[in-house]
Amino acid sequence: MKRRHLLQSLACAPALAGTAFAQPLVAPRRIVAAPAELPVAGQAALPVWAYDAQVPGPVLRYRRGAVLDLELHNRLPDPTTIHWHGIRLPNGMDGVPGLTQDPVAPGASFRYRFALPDAGTYWYHPHLGTSEQVDRGLAGVLIVEDDEPPPVDLDLVWLLDDWRLNAQGRIRDDFYNFHDVAHAGRMGQHLTVNGQPALVQALESGQRVRLRLVNASNARIYALMFEGLPAWLIARDGMPAASAVPWKGELLLGPGMRCDFIIDALRPGRFELRDRFGRGQRSLAALEVRGPERAARPAPRPASYEPLPEPDLAQAMVHALRLGGGAMNREGWPQESTAEREARRLRQQAGSREPTPAWTLNGHAHMSHDRAHASHAAEFRVPRGRSVRLTFDNATAWWHPMHLHGHHFRVLSRNGQALPERPWRDSVLVAPGDRVEVAFVADNPGYWLIHCHVLEHHAGGLGTLFEVQG
Ligand code: C2O
Ligand code: CU
Ligand code: CU
Repeated sequence: MKRRHLLQSLACAPALAGTAFAQPLVAPRRIVAAPAELPVAGQAALPVWAYDAQVPGPVLRYRRGAVLDLELHNRLPDPTTIHWHGIRLPNGMDGVPGLTQDPVAPGASFRYRFALPDAGTYWYHPHLGTSEQVDRGLAGVLIVEDDEPPPVDLDLVWLLDDWRLNAQGRIRDDFYNFHDVAHAGRMGQHLTVNGQPALVQALESGQRVRLRLVNASNARIYALMFEGLPAWLIARDGMPAASAVPWKGELLLGPGMRCDFIIDALRPGRFELRDRFGRGQRSLAALEVRGPERAARPAPRPASYEPLPEPDLAQAMVHALRLGGGAMNREGWPQESTAEREARRLRQQAGSREPTPAWTLNGHAHMSHDRAHASHAAEFRVPRGRSVRLTFDNATAWWHPMHLHGHHFRVLSRNGQALPERPWRDSVLVAPGDRVEVAFVADNPGYWLIHCHVLEHHAGGLGTLFEVQG
């Protein structure tokens, strides 16, 4: 289908939210979430939770404008859901338990069905017991192909993750411990790409490859380095850059974020993808090129795309979200009454996995996600179609990748410094002390989450929701 026809058929896509699609006889693809033992993170048979017995889950590929129709079967011991991270979809398909759907109980299933309006690199993961379920291995990449993608010889998908293993080589089940929740989140000591500790991808010289990187770590931020071959950044969070940007120096990729590169394998050798966040640096994976040296090629062109609705900054509603609490900070800690705190401690002692509140947005900790998202009042309400300017004001000592459901936003400024290209994103990294302003058109009706994608931070209160009315 040509782009124009596609757009015409997509033009009415939001209106499909409540109605049936006109293809009732096509069976949905099945996806099964279940425990498995797999060769992951350097272990011969690591007990994990997996989609279709794979870690990462299967790469789901669709054409832009296609309908994703997929039935989740839950064979886990716990209830679950799937959230389609970064996709502008109808609210009922967003996978947020207690807010957009009921949890999918063990043994039960749920059918997700929606059109995919934007090409790009996205991913899917549970949104219930998220910190534990994602950490145990439930995460996969969702690719929406553009009609005219930049031509490449190979399309590589690398999902970055880290694993906290105990002395027996099992996943440590200290989920939601207070230290992780109140500090940088759950970090694992074993870094993997597609579940493998030292992935090596063989290439022939002369090949042009697209490399899609997805950060599926609970909490780890990567400062990605790649040297020795020409490489260009062509998209972030699924959305194409205006022009290809040469990859120089460190590229920060927070949890939940994606970036797409084009790399030309021009010369033989071994070229490592390295992480340099914080102290030291380590190798994550490598490209190993064989064959003769080749001449440089012109820079690629990112896919063009139909512009998203442009926020009207002059008429926009203005909201500020102040991030508070966390370790090494006195300001903005959640206020619990003594009775509430005692009740929580008793439940925790009895084995409940609920985290201790440690973070706030505008003074409020958003807790008990798994049961009661809907019990939280909307932080703001906005009539459908209205533009919103949103400021994240990080009054904590920690980094927070702030993610918005159901919409893409433009990043307008950081610490008062305007970003001339105003890039489109679905998540933005907010460094300690930073103030970042974003803007979007609230055109997707329903209740949507805004939260930190350090999964332990969200579990400890760093999230809220807003309502698009109409
Ligand atoms: Cu990957 Cu609520 O998000
Ligand atoms: Cu929440
Ligand atoms: Cu955070």
